Amino acid sequence: MRERILTRLQRAAGEYVSGEELAAELGVSRTAVWKRVAELKAAGYPIESCTRLGYRLPPGAGALDAPLFAGRCIRVEETDSTNRLARELWEAGAIGHGDVVVAVRQTQGRGRRGRRWESPPGGLWFSLLLRPSLAPAQVAPFSLVCAVAVAEALQCFVPVPVQVKWPNDVLVGGRKAAGVLLEMQAEFDRIEYVIAGIGINVNLDREVFPAPLRGLVTSLQAEAGAPLPLETVLQEVLGGLQACYGEFVASGWPPFRRRFHRLCAHRGRLIRVCQGGSRLEGIDEGVDADGCLRLRLDDGRLVRVAAGDVVFDSGLDAGGDECTSSG
Ligand code: BTN
Repeated sequence: MRERILTRLQRAAGEYVSGEELAAELGVSRTAVWKRVAELKAAGYPIESCTRLGYRLPPGAGALDAPLFAGRCIRVEETDSTNRLARELWEAGAIGHGDVVVAVRQTQGRGRRGRRWESPPGGLWFSLLLRPSLAPAQVAPFSLVCAVAVAEALQCFVPVPVQVKWPNDVLVGGRKAAGVLLEMQAEFDRIEYVIAGIGINVNLDREVFPAPLRGLVTSLQAEAGAPLPLETVLQEVLGGLQACYGEFVASGWPPFRRRFHRLCAHRGRLIRVCQGGSRLEGIDEGVDADGCLRLRLDDGRLVRVAAGDVVFDSGLDAGGDECTSSG
């Protein structure tokens, strides 16, 4: 949607386009237009807003030079993992800040906590290389920020709610449809690079997933009722990531905390957090100023969880090894 807003404003050649007109042309609400414009502004596009007239790109603003990262796309048919390939290409000096590596299929797609990530053709499997001027410790919540960016971008493709599950799963209609694997190379207080690996189940049948995962995962196609154009989904998600990255580098995690809470599928609910062999059960009291989860235990203690897998709803009653499932 961001691309289409920019194109429309460019076509208007410096004239204002009303929010109402943009909303009608894009088939979305005026609030949705307002939100996307705010993200574009955060990403560095010099869009001007006027309550009575709408939005415009001032003449000669050179708007499309504004992106905070260039977003060159390196496309391959097959690789083991785009995260690994992005690292290799970086080490060979072949890619830089803002470049994206996309594969049609991955043979050894990697998920969080050392798990396997099913990556057949039909999904979006890509890695974005970034070089933020931040201290390594500041980057941790960026994986939650990526989940917010992906969730917000995917909402325009499906009629069911898109939510996040801490720390960075994206649920569509209550089932996992996308995940984020953030990897960082840093020396002392300097980040060399961050690789944000994103996997999105776009046009996949549930049958491609191993049987134990089928009830837990979904795809955009399954929820939208029809296949979606991969390129459009990729551009929308990259636009969202770009806007969120710009805002994160400028203002850090605080502006995203509320957005994460708004999208969170389990805030205020009884959840279980699994970390290796241990499990903690309690009421989710939201994420803190560092992106850690706050859990109110039965005995009244508030604990802060930095890593783990959240299980809630039916998973809590199911017992068994729900904490070991991936997808
Ligand atoms: C998760 O476990 O939820 C994270 C999944 C991340 C998968 C993506 S697909 C593109 C990139 N390459 C990988 O090997 N993994 C990430």
